[in-house]
This record gives sequence, structure tokens and C-alpha cells, in this order.
Amino acid sequence: MKRIAIYNAKPDMVIAKEIYGRNGRLLLNKGTVLTQKWIDKLYMYGVPTVYIEPDTILHEPAAKEQNSGSGGGVMTGRYCREDLPDIIPHTIREEAERVVREIMQDIKTGSLLKTETAREVVEKIIDQLIKNRHIAGKLADIRILDDYTFSHSVNVCIFAVSTGIFMGYSKIRLRELGIGALLHDVGKMKIPESILQKCGPLSEKEFEQIKTHTVLGYQILRDAPGITPNAARIALQHHECYNGSGYPYGLDNKGIHEYSKIVAIADVYDALTADRVYKNAILPYEAMEIVIASGGYQFDPRITRLFVEHCEIYPVGSTVKLNTGEHGIITDVNRALPTRPTVKIIKDAQGNEIDNGAEINLMEKPTVFVNKIISFRRMHCL
Ligand SMILES: [Fe+2]
Repeated sequence: MKRIAIYNAKPDMVIAKEIYGRNGRLLLNKGTVLTQKWIDKLYMYGVPTVYIEPDTILHEPAAKEQNSGSGGGVMTGRYCREDLPDIIPHTIREEAERVVREIMQDIKTGSLLKTETAREVVEKIIDQLIKNRHIAGKLADIRILDDYTFSHSVNVCIFAVSTGIFMGYSKIRLRELGIGALLHDVGKMKIPESILQKCGPLSEKEFEQIKTHTVLGYQILRDAPGITPNAARIALQHHECYNGSGYPYGLDNKGIHEYSKIVAIADVYDALTADRVYKNAILPYEAMEIVIASGGYQFDPRITRLFVEHCEIYPVGSTVKLNTGEHGIITDVNRALPTRPTVKIIKDAQGNEIDNGAEINLMEKPTVFVNKIISFRRMHCL
């Protein structure tokens, strides 16, 4: 089977692995033949990638590159069939989820934590991310949908280690960061399920109880074999905020360890883009806007900038609608501020198609912004 980005999915491709929504709800069965309607729905559900039977992927003639400068392209009517390499093979992801599940089970039953298994799988994740660092920058493609509790932990670990790599961390530090990130929410095993899974708003008392998962998680990890103090501290501090408004202790920038600052961003970004019992997922670019807006308040601005720079939220070739009413195609992504890409106009505000429309760099037009993504599917190449 081959994993491809949802924007590269086409009707008649056959699903090679079941696609689940949140809460284990099956969205599409293995063997389903994709239709345009399903592709649109999966996109709306925020499913970033799908596994496809390789022999159902039509390989159209490769589009010719003519403009290497912009890194993007304009429409020629051909589709760019970029297969998405698995940054983390699904076998490693499944192993990581199993490890988290077993450790959380051990916490519930009071057994000795098998932290060695966590160390081993984190090593594998680090090796994969280092090996694939040329593609690991596309953070938006990393997260997958599965059972929330475990897949969230794995997603946060992958986001955090990727950020650590961008920051030039040594392998020893990446390992500490990765283990702490993978186990950042273990304290939740001590919180009643009825509160964790509650659909409606939490009462003040319930919220206070949820907050204790930080201290409880720290107490569990502090005493566990093979977990360093800095890795354990991630469980304690991942809800602390740069400006001191977080919990449990209201620490500010100076008091929060750098690992915890990284995990705080990864945790919020993945939670925002996840479809949970109490909320629907928001799109990656909306989540990124929230993360950017929180830099300097909730998050460390330097780490926020790094995280944002490595997250490709509008893939080149996406069709978008601007607040001016015009439609355009993303032709270039601004690494420093991915929410302000370059857009080639293809329709005016009245919906009339335009040949050779203007190319607008949104960095230079502060009053113009992307209002809506029309399509992630068609990758237009030069
Ligand atoms: Fe948490």
C-alpha cells in the first residue's frame, strides 16, 4: 500500500487501510473505491493522508519543471502525482501507540512501567525523522487519525522530536525530549474516564481535577526507571505558559524547561486539528493561525517561529479564496510566515475566470488574506 496526501487522492483509487475518525468511528472501509464526494468529505473531516492500493494509482506523465526559483507553479492542466513518503512507517507508529497503551495500562494497574520499550520506539522515531529530515519539515503531513489518546501522544512525540531536530538537538537530548513527549499525558490515567470523555463543558471542579494530570504524571515518571528528570518535567510543565498564565504552578518563560515549551506547542497544535468528543477538528492552517497568535503569550516566540516555519499549511497548488472574493492558486510558500503565501489569481471576485492573473505575495498585502481553502487536491505543476 502507498500513503498519499488527501489532496493527491483521485476518484477510482482504492483504499488500502481502514480510515477511522475520532472515537473509533469507521469512515471508510478497506477496499472502498474513492469517489469525489468521499475525497471532499475526508478533506472536510481533516484526514490528511490515506493509504491506497498502489495499482489503482494512475501515473500520469510527469509535469515538467520550468521554474525552479519559486518552488511552486501555475496551472497547466496536469496533475503532479507526488507520492507522500511515510515519514514514520506505520509499523513504527503502531508500535509507539502500543507502547503508550501498555504503559498507561501499567499505570492503571499499578505495575512497574516498561519504560525501556518507550526508549526503544522513541529511538526508532528519531532515526526515521533524522533519515527523512528533508521531508520531515512538512509537519502538517505528520499527524494521522486514530484512537485519540494514543495517536495524540505519538503525534506530539513526532512533532516535538522534529522541532528538536530543527533546533539542532543532540541525539541524547532528542531521546529525552521524545520519551517525555510520548508520555506527557500519562497522568490522565489517574483522572476518571467520565471527566476525560465528557461531551459538555467541564465544571470548575472537574477542570481543577483535569489540571492535576500534570503533577500526577510527573510523580509517575519521576519514579520510573530510565526516565530523566528533564523528561519527567515535561509531564509537569506542558500546560505552563510563556507569560505565566498556565498551570499547575503558573511558571513563566524563565521557569519552564525548553523541552516543555516544545511539547506545549506540539500538544496544542495536534489537539486543535483533532476531532474530539467535545469539538470538531479545525483545519491545519486555522490551527497554525492560533499557534502563531499565541507566540509570546502562551508559547515561547522563538520556538513558535521554528515550529511554524516547518509546517507547510498551504501546499503549493492548493486553490484558495481570498477575502477580496478572488480565487487563486498557491504558487509559493513563505517559510517564515506560511499563512502569507504567494497566490496567483485565477478568478475575479465575480467568479469570472482570468487568464494570466496577477501573482500576489500576501506578505506585501497585509489587508488581503486567505479566507478559505477551496481544494487541496489538485497539485498544479509547471
Ligand atoms: Fe496534558
